[in-house]
Amino acid sequence: MATQITPGLPQTYRALLLKSRRDPYDIEVVTKPMPQAGPGSVVIRILGANVLTYSDQIYTGSRPYPYPTPFTPGCSAIGRVSSVGPDATTLQPSQLVFFDLFIRGRDNPDSLILSGVFDGLNAASKKLMAGEWRNSTYAEYAKVPLENCFPLNESLLLGSPADGGLGYRETDLLYLSKLAVVFGGLRDVDVRAGETVVIVPATGAFGGAAVLAALAMGAQVIAMGRNQEALEKVKALDRNGRIRTVHNSGDVEVDIQELTKYGPLDVFFDISPENASNSTHFKSCIRSLRRGGRFSMMGAPKEVSLPVYVMMHNDITFKGKWMYTPDDVRFVIKLAERGFVKLGEAGDIQTVGKFALEEFADAFAAGAKMSGPWLQTVIVP
Ligand SMILES: NC(=O)c1ccc[n+]([C@@H]2O[C@H](COP(=O)([O-])OP(=O)(O)OC[C@H]3O[C@@H](n4cnc5c(N)ncnc54)[C@H](OP(=O)(O)O)[C@@H]3O)[C@@H](O)[C@H]2O)c1
Repeated sequence: MATQITPGLPQTYRALLLKSRRDPYDIEVVTKPMPQAGPGSVVIRILGANVLTYSDQIYTGSRPYPYPTPFTPGCSAIGRVSSVGPDATTLQPSQLVFFDLFIRGRDNPDSLILSGVFDGLNAASKKLMAGEWRNSTYAEYAKVPLENCFPLNESLLLGSPADGGLGYRETDLLYLSKLAVVFGGLRDVDVRAGETVVIVPATGAFGGAAVLAALAMGAQVIAMGRNQEALEKVKALDRNGRIRTVHNSGDVEVDIQELTKYGPLDVFFDISPENASNSTHFKSCIRSLRRGGRFSMMGAPKEVSLPVYVMMHNDITFKGKWMYTPDDVRFVIKLAERGFVKLGEAGDIQTVGKFALEEFADAFAAGAKMSGPWLQTVIVP
């Protein structure tokens, strides 16, 4: 089989190029020759790419994520296949796909990068991003690994409800990437239907996604956070009495009482930011777990003081989790296609900003300003 190409593909395309980390951004829009898909790769037309709440920090360098320069930054994306390499067995030109930014080295399971964001923690990861997979999705087109493109059922997801579809817009589908992250942690500690999961903070971008994910898995949710207004927004989602909110008051004993009002908890899921190292929720949540409870740590604080004596006596399982498995991504897509998680307006998920490539600075500023659950900012090249 030869490479398959969409007829009429242009010879060139526009992309962001980040030349160095600095504030103000050292980023410009450039025109590049169209890449060719080869064995193991796909070229996709980017229909929308995610912006993180901390993209501004990553690309100015104030959050010291390593990546090679110059490069095209980016994130997970929704795309349409433009060309596929000769070893593609199923993907075809014009197919709608979810591009997963978590790229794994094919010859080394420890070689892991986040496309457009982070070139990993070892030499093999850095090699992966230095060459073939250097450039990401803040571009009209991107060449990406074949296995990172997950086919989407376009007629189901984008089709009109009158024809049995879910009526989503292409950019609504970008929320799959937040859901994939939190399903990664929740599935890693084997959350089961009927279990009680405390999510902290449930009030942020990923925490809000975790509430939706845990509900879709059949769990009871305790949404914890400091921001009362955001907690009220989470509570308002409660249609079946499966969400309780608890204010993270900073008083461990008071918070334990609230958390365990109806008995000890099964799972503690953390997705807190770097500056939450001293938050008391680590202690209150761990001490609220039942014997044999599980703790999934997806949050970013570098160091945290934990009540290890309690963890030891109560047989608590602690699992750190970075991102997810390909199977988690397929699971999330299936849940969305079957309507177990709702996207777009149907899921109360609001796209608060949609920006063109040249508006990247506004896009990163809008991402940083997002405050609360179920919001997303996207770049539409
Ligand atoms: N493990 C992984 O694979 C993975 C993947 C993606 C992201 N992450 C991490 O997830 C973190 C959260 O990202 P996000 O986009 O959801 O951030 P976000 O939208 O800014 O939400 C973070 C929430 O944390 C709470 N918070 C802020 N400062 C705090 C403090 N000092 N103590 C306690 N809580 C605090 C705030 O809620 P309240 O004010 O209500 O408390 C805020 O809404 C990031 O730092 C990222 O590194 C991890």
